[in-house]
Amino acid sequence: MHADTSPAQFWENRYTDSDGLWSGNANASLVDAVSGLAPGTALDLGCGEGADTIWLARGGWDATGVDISRTAVRRATDAARAAGLPVDRIRFAAADLATWREDSSYDLVAASFLHSPVEFPRTDVLRHAAGLVAPRGHLVIVSHAAFPPWAGADAHEGHGDHRFPSPQEEVEALDLEPGSWEVRIAETRARDAIGPDGTQVVLDDTVVVLRRL
Ligand SMILES: C[S@@+](CC[C@H](N)C(=O)[O-])C[C@H]1O[C@@H](n2cnc3c(N)ncnc32)[C@H](O)[C@@H]1O
Repeated sequence: MHADTSPAQFWENRYTDSDGLWSGNANASLVDAVSGLAPGTALDLGCGEGADTIWLARGGWDATGVDISRTAVRRATDAARAAGLPVDRIRFAAADLATWREDSSYDLVAASFLHSPVEFPRTDVLRHAAGLVAPRGHLVIVSHAAFPPWAGADAHEGHGDHRFPSPQEEVEALDLEPGSWEVRIAETRARDAIGPDGTQVVLDDTVVVLRRL
């Protein structure tokens, strides 16, 4: 268990233990969901090293990424600068989404694999996220539908007998105001991935795309 480690310290350790935790590529399900949308303002929750946020900014979105890890945010900021993106088009902030509250609204709020094996009020965070979506804007949630086959005991640690929510459960948990949202996508999608040992696998993602009316 990670009982003695705060969420901020847990994630900071995960990032500092590696030179780069993620691939640097935007998540395919996020790319699929957003590609047809007209760019506007975008918020990427749990942005990690910023690949999705950078992909959004490259596509013309005015993009903001938020993550609890200062190291992840620094790497994301460096990657955005290295990509030549202007500072007025993309920015990152280190904050704990459990307590982070925002007044602005966004044309797109995205959360890709916003999971944590340590304390994380995911449902509350996603409900707050829904409240930040501007009228006619979108909420895109891409999540694991199951642990990947290579996940060992450590990945399950803190999850107990965790079961990932189905797409329908993910939507219901948001407790959205009836009649104010259109469910555009709520489904499980298969995706090709390469495991840590280099073998090709198929992983299932839960993809939820909602449009605020
Ligand atoms: C599984 S990673 C996904 C990262 C990125 N979205 C991606 O798809 O590559 C989960 C991310 O959520 C962040 N996170 C976890 N708990 C958080 C919290 N309480 N507040 C903000 N970010 C958090 C972690 O630091 C990590 O970067």
